[in-house]
Amino acid sequence: MADYWIAPSILSADFARLGEEVSNVLDAGADVVHFDVMDNHFVPNLTVGPMVCKSLREYGIDAVIDVHLMIEPVDQLIPPFANAGADIITFHPEASDDVARTLALIKQQGCKAGLVLNPETPLDVALPHIEELDVLLLMSVNPGFGGQSFIPQTLTKIRQARALLDEKQLPTRLQVDGGINLDNIAEIARAGADMFVAGSAIFASDDYQATLSQMRAQLAQ
Ligand code: DX5
Ligand code: ZN
Repeated sequence: MADYWIAPSILSADFARLGEEVSNVLDAGADVVHFDVMDNHFVPNLTVGPMVCKSLREYGIDAVIDVHLMIEPVDQLIPPFANAGADIITFHPEASDDVARTLALIKQQGCKAGLVLNPETPLDVALPHIEELDVLLLMSVNPGFGGQSFIPQTLTKIRQARALLDEKQLPTRLQVDGGINLDNIAEIARAGADMFVAGSAIFASDDYQATLSQMRAQLAQ
């Protein structure tokens, strides 16, 4: 069985108790913290910056923090997020005027680097950079909000991306983000994903341990 990572998205957490919430989902079995950064410019919503990532580290969160930048421009916030404790930094190609340079900047800062493709962004956009990617993130909702429904057409793109990564024998993580829940996570895994972002499906549940165990059970099918 693939080495699957489940990454709760903080967007659906109770921000008044963020450290506690993140600690609870990690204790409940989550692998990675998905840290959604929005600037109310690239996407029509506003969330948090590097200082909140730093606060999570100071609170004692030592799990992998996967920073999903939905911001434009991108480059100048990469060093602050790296210094604040980000492990993975992903960004949208539409938000960078030089994707190769932004990927290199993330790696220079000591973080793993990834590209994020929106539902309408073709897989070809990632092709020139595919060997450089530690993570390829395929959005299965349009970015900006949690609690949206999974876009089923994404499954085709996931299969195509998995075929591409396997053909090139790349160790790149294939991450899917948006609308993932107990009813679709197994199908998304069968399509070839190995990293699953879930915000509302986890944080809206009243038992994180039970929800994560059920997700694991679905992935073990
Ligand atoms: C949306 C974010 C996602 C979102 C996922 O722009 O990138 O990470 O928080 O939330 P759910 O799982 O509720 O769709
Ligand atoms: Zn995200």
